[in-house]
Amino acid sequence: MAQTELITGIDIGSSTIRIAVGEISQESDRLNIIGLAEGESSGVSKGNIRSIEEVVESIIQVKSRAEKMTSLSLESSVVAISGSHITAQESKGVIAVARADGEIREDDVERVLEAAQAVSVPPNYEIIHVLPRSFAIDNQTDIKDPIGMNGVRLEVEAQIIEGQSAHIKNVTKAVSLSGIGIDDLVLASLASSESTLTERQKDLGVAMVNIGAATTSVLVFEEGDILLVKVLPVGAAHITNDVAIGLRTNIDVAELIKIQYGSTLSAVGSSADEVQISQINEQEEGTFSRKYLAEIIEARVEEIFNLVDKELKTVNRSGKLPAGAILTGGGAKLPGVIDVAKRVFRLPAAIGAPIGVDSAIDKLSNPEYTTAVGLVLWGHANHEASRKPFSSIGIKGFKGVSAVTDLVKSIIRIFKS
Ligand SMILES: Nc1ncnc2c1ncn2[C@@H]1O[C@H](COP(=O)(O)OP(=O)(O)OP(=O)(O)O)[C@@H](O)[C@H]1O
Ligand SMILES: [Mg+2]
Repeated sequence: MAQTELITGIDIGSSTIRIAVGEISQESDRLNIIGLAEGESSGVSKGNIRSIEEVVESIIQVKSRAEKMTSLSLESSVVAISGSHITAQESKGVIAVARADGEIREDDVERVLEAAQAVSVPPNYEIIHVLPRSFAIDNQTDIKDPIGMNGVRLEVEAQIIEGQSAHIKNVTKAVSLSGIGIDDLVLASLASSESTLTERQKDLGVAMVNIGAATTSVLVFEEGDILLVKVLPVGAAHITNDVAIGLRTNIDVAELIKIQYGSTLSAVGSSADEVQISQINEQEEGTFSRKYLAEIIEARVEEIFNLVDKELKTVNRSGKLPAGAILTGGGAKLPGVIDVAKRVFRLPAAIGAPIGVDSAIDKLSNPEYTTAVGLVLWGHANHEASRKPFSSIGIKGFKGVSAVTDLVKSIIRIFKS
C-alpha cells in the first residue's frame, strides 16, 4: 500500500467547532479530505474562550466524530486563531548576507524574517505570522524569492500579524487538553483563503470576506501579497439578534427562522408570504411576513458590508479589486447575500468553497468549511516547504513558524508541569 500522510485542521469558531482530516497520497501528492466533523462550540462567546473545560469537552466530541468517520486516531493538528483582537503591522528587517561569496541561502531568509520581528508588539500580544511581502538585495528591490541570488545586504518588507497572548494560550491549552498535539497555529482567515482563492485572484486583487457568527474577517490580496488583515467584531449572530428583536421571538427561534426563511430583499422578491411562528416553535405565537424578515436581515448585512468597505477604503481598494469579493463562513449561505455584496462593494462577488482538494464528502462545498480545510492545506504546504527547503518561497514557506511553535511548546510545558 502506498504511504499516506494525515493532516488535521481544527477551527474553533464562536458558534461551531469544525475538524477536517486530510490524507495525502505520496504517489500523487493530492490532498483528499476524508473526514469533516462539527459540533456546537460551548464555552466560546463572541470569539473568546469563556470556559476551557467546556471548550475541551466540545473539541473532544467533534474529534471523536472525526475519528469515527475516518476510523483513525487523530494525534496532531493545525489550529486556527481568530477573533477581533487580531492586528497587523508593517515591518522591515535588514541583515548582512552570511556567505563570503554573497549567495543568499535559506538561513539568510530566516534571519532577515527574524530581524523583521523586532517590532514593538503591544503588551500581552504575540506574533502569529511574519508574512514576507518583498525582498531587496543591495539596491535591487521587489524581489519575491531571493534564495540563490547574490548580494551583501538582504532586506525584507513584511507584514506582522499579532494576536492576544491570553487567547492564543487558551486555544492552545484547550486543544492540548483534548488530547491532540499542535503542529502550527494559523490565522483563521488566512487558512480560509488558502482553500478558496486561486493564485490568479490573489495576483489580480481580491477580498476574502468570512462572515462567521461573532466576527467578520477581511483579507485583501494584490500581486500575491496581503494588503489588509482585519477581524471585525460583528457577524451573522447579530442578524439573529435583530430578528429576535424585530419579530419579538426568543433567540433560538430567531436563529431557526433566519436559517429556514431568512434572505435578503432581492432573494425574497415581491413575495407576500406570511409565516406562522408556531410552525417553528409550538410555544411561540404570531406571524411575520417574509418581506419584513428580509428587511431586518438586509439592514444588518448592509451594515456589515459597509464596515468591510470602510476597511477596503483604508488601503484604497474600495471598488477597485478586479477579482472582487469572495464570501465564506456560515453567513455566506444566506440567500441573496451576493447581491448585497455586489451593490455595497461595487465589485464582482461570489461564494467561496474549498478548491484544490479531492473528497467524496458532500458538505465539503459548504462555505463554512473553508477554514478547517484551509488549515489542512496549510499543513500540507508547510510540510512540503520543510521537505524542499529551496523551493520557491512565499507565504507558505516562511510565516514566523518558529515564533509560534516555540510559544506553543512553552505553553504546553507550563501546563503539563
Ligand atoms: N443557511 C444559512 N442562512 C443564514 N445564515 C446561516 C446559514 N447557515 C449558517 N448561518 C449562520 O452562520 C453563522 C455561523 O457561521 P460560521 O460557522 O462560519 O461561524 P463560526 O466560525 O462559528 O464563528 P466565527 O468565525 O465568528 O468565530 C451563524 O450565525 C449562522 O446563523
Ligand atoms: Mg469561523
